[in-house]
Amino acid sequence: MENLQTETPLKWMKGWSELYKKQSELSDEELKKLDPSYPVQLFLSFVDTAGLKVLEFASGNGDNAFSLYKAGCIVTGFDASASSIELLKYRAELLGVDSERFQMSLADMLSFLFRQDEFDVVLANQCLQYLFDNTIPKFREIAEKIKPGGWFIYSGNILPHKATEKPIRFITPEEIKDMLKDWKFLSFGTDEILIAEDDLRGYVHFVARKPE
Ligand SMILES: C[S@@+](CC[C@H](N)C(=O)[O-])C[C@H]1O[C@@H](n2cnc3c(N)ncnc32)[C@H](O)[C@@H]1O
Repeated sequence: MENLQTETPLKWMKGWSELYKKQSELSDEELKKLDPSYPVQLFLSFVDTAGLKVLEFASGNGDNAFSLYKAGCIVTGFDASASSIELLKYRAELLGVDSERFQMSLADMLSFLFRQDEFDVVLANQCLQYLFDNTIPKFREIAEKIKPGGWFIYSGNILPHKATEKPIRFITPEEIKDMLKDWKFLSFGTDEILIAEDDLRGYVHFVARKPE
């Protein structure tokens, strides 16, 4: 399987693919352990998730998708990295996942099709920003298509952030609040994390519920 060609720079895609290949070399015991992102942890702590239909954009190593599956959700996900999909398939086997409730495919965030009201929950963790000029339109499309009373779980970068060869489209906290005016926030936060020497990065994350 090859990585899909997307607007995301090849070098970045290769970086993530290498990471997923390295993770696939971990022991089966390690690969069974799940480490969901902070907004997903909050969602799992506060919301009755059994039976919810979830769509995850750019599922990566699957920590979020498998955590939601284990909490009773019906999960659909995708990623443009072939090694992500291979890792997800291997972890699904290890975890004894029921394929009726967990489906993953190789797809591009820009062209992945889903219907109005098809999902109760859409999760986009550290990925929408790689749609560049299409980031905001995709954010709006997701918000529009989530079922009434459903949930949007999001994390993305904001400033401070080092300059990148292709400038990332940071969605600011103000833009989020403006686009989700009528939604109820279960959580909304920003962080700054020094991920390496001289590399301080900003993050914004939220869990929000669409009005009924
Ligand atoms: C920073 S990682 C985040 C992965 C995962 N969501 C997480 O939170 O751990 C970014 C992910 O986006 C994927 N990606 C980048 N551009 C993409 C695109 N256009 N369509 C689908 N996936 C893409 C990469 O393969 C990578 O898995």
